[in-house]
Amino acid sequence: MNSKIKLAFEKIVGTTNILTQDLNPFNTDWMNKYVGSSEIVLTPQTTDQVSQILRFCNENSLKVVPQSGNTGLVGGSVPIKDEIIISMRKMNQIYEFDLNSAIITSDSGVILENLNNYLFQYKYQMPWDLGARGSCMLGGNISTNAGGLNVVKHGLLRNYVLGLEVVLPNGKILNLLNKNRKDNTGTDLKQLFIGSEGTLGIITKANVLCIPIPNEKKVFFLELKSFQDVIKVLQKVKRNEQLLAFEFMEGKILHKNMHRHSGNKLPFDFQEDKYYVLLEIAGQSLNVDQFSLDMMEFTEEIVMNQNEKEAQFLWKLREEIAESMGKMGYVLKYDVSIPPDKFEWLVNQIYPKREGPFHVYYGHVGDGNVHINIVFESLSELHKEEDKIEQKLFGLVKSQGGSISAEHGIGQHKRKYMELQKGRDVLGCLSEIKRLFDPNGIMNPNKLL
Ligand code: FAD
Ligand code: MLT
Ligand code: ZN
Repeated sequence: MNSKIKLAFEKIVGTTNILTQDLNPFNTDWMNKYVGSSEIVLTPQTTDQVSQILRFCNENSLKVVPQSGNTGLVGGSVPIKDEIIISMRKMNQIYEFDLNSAIITSDSGVILENLNNYLFQYKYQMPWDLGARGSCMLGGNISTNAGGLNVVKHGLLRNYVLGLEVVLPNGKILNLLNKNRKDNTGTDLKQLFIGSEGTLGIITKANVLCIPIPNEKKVFFLELKSFQDVIKVLQKVKRNEQLLAFEFMEGKILHKNMHRHSGNKLPFDFQEDKYYVLLEIAGQSLNVDQFSLDMMEFTEEIVMNQNEKEAQFLWKLREEIAESMGKMGYVLKYDVSIPPDKFEWLVNQIYPKREGPFHVYYGHVGDGNVHINIVFESLSELHKEEDKIEQKLFGLVKSQGGSISAEHGIGQHKRKYMELQKGRDVLGCLSEIKRLFDPNGIMNPNKLL
């Protein structure tokens, strides 16, 4: 790192907010699939410092990557080359929760779980939830418009973000903070930053509408004979307002993960050729009997949690899939949107008779979002197959009117398929917006667009 540049950063953030050694965790993504070679990480503590950093970088054509929890799954949060990493982890103050409006105001570097711990005293919670809750941060969630486990009930993150503070690449601070539930004053500029993966500016603060913690919850685990039965159960329960989550898992992966729980009582002796559903209902005066009856039409065995610990264990079986796949090798991960009744068909098109490398599908059936994970022994093997699989997979997804990314985003992974997804005109328009905000192309280069 050029010493003049380092000195300039020292003047802005001080020596304690600059890292130049042991940068592996910042340069490497969660899947060990994308590795950059940045020589410097800055950890600003105020919006003003973020502004000064970006102004300096813009004036000197230095490229940057904003990073929050670094749990992103598309290589968006790590540098491709030696971009400067701006880590938001020290901007972690929660300012207030307004009980009348249920709006929280916070810095963007607060970990999702910490937001929920803070909100607990008010009997409120964040409106989205995901397995990475212990590491991912508010700004990362907003920049990826994260989906997660409760979208079937609450809808998407972007509906809950009411206000933002954003620093533009030229250092200008845009005050889009807003504590009004209703604000109908023209074009909603903040929406451009939600889901734009750090390519337009850095989010420093946010106002988010929170939701009450439900009085009661019940988790069900079902074993089903066919994927068609999964869809039948979905049709039966989807219109019920108490449905909070509807998650699907192939028996293949639950069976493989059984050894992880030798000391615990599993809900089923998981079979490779069976299909499993985790379903959660929440609210007041839960209709547990009706739900059970509805599901009994399709399965003889339903397991229900008796206490919070059991609920957590059932959820663990679903949430640990991502991590367990990562332990098996290098994983090609997909998060496509497609009509739920096409999930099995889609996987069979990619791997007829389910032959090929170890692969499973699971995910948020209730949202029409399937995850397909394919494991390779080496990164080079993965790269050899990647293009072939993606051209077929994304082509099929498009043919069904789906989306190549339901929730993880585009990052560096799916960038070359943006034209397929969006079409030339839309992509052209998005590129113009990018040029308007970031004419020198310093913000998270070669990601998304
Ligand atoms: P990072 O990974 O650090 O960054 C993500 C992107 O946002 C990058 O492009 C980065 O440059 C940009 N960015 C980060 N902070 C800012 C900022 N302040 N301003 C501007 N740009 C910024 N995702 C889902 O949608 N649903 C899931 O169910 C889900 N489950 C997961 C489970 C596990 C175990 C893991 C590891 C990941 C999961 N993810 C899921 C993916 C990931 O957690 C989400 O994308 C999350 O929102 C990323 O947050 P982060 O703080 O880690 O952001
Ligand atoms: C999940 O639903 O578990 C996450 O999106 C992570 C993954 O795709 O494995
Ligand atoms: Zn997911």
